[in-house]
Amino acid sequence: MIKKISFTPIVDSRGSLIAIEEPTIGFTVKRIYYIYGANSATRRGYHAHLNLKQFFICISGSCKIQFEEDSDVKVINFNSNDKGVYVEGIVWREIYDFSNDCILLVLASEVYNEEDYIRDYKDFKKLSN
Ligand code: TYD
Repeated sequence: MIKKISFTPIVDSRGSLIAIEEPTIGFTVKRIYYIYGANSATRRGYHAHLNLKQFFICISGSCKIQFEEDSDVKVINFNSNDKGVYVEGIVWREIYDFSNDCILLVLASEVYNEEDYIRDYKDFKKLSN
């Protein structure tokens, strides 16, 4: 499942603040990581997860993520820090078209576990059918 969520910034003359609480995220966060220093030639991801739930927020710059779930392929343009995308289930993802200033923040429901990864596209197709 892929779900887009908008946040409401709290704006005043000092700037803006976005607060995101657990009910919005949909899971207890056990891990946070962020991807930065990528560029327009970078393409990464190329995997799905068995059980992980994730929440993606592009807090600076822009990038795109192509999500494939069952046979449905969807590209989401991450170009605003007031939107996030919740992902659960067996979803193949490829991340690309990074601006140089892109910082992609990812909140995850589990600590890092290589065994949760599906890194072979053929395995992904088998599992999603
Ligand atoms: P990788 O899965 O290749 O990143 P991406 O999905 O963006 O292509 O991860 C890069 C490296 O970082 C790899 O050696 C695994 C390691 N890593 C961690 O140690 N902890 C983490 O939480 C993540 C996401 C990756």
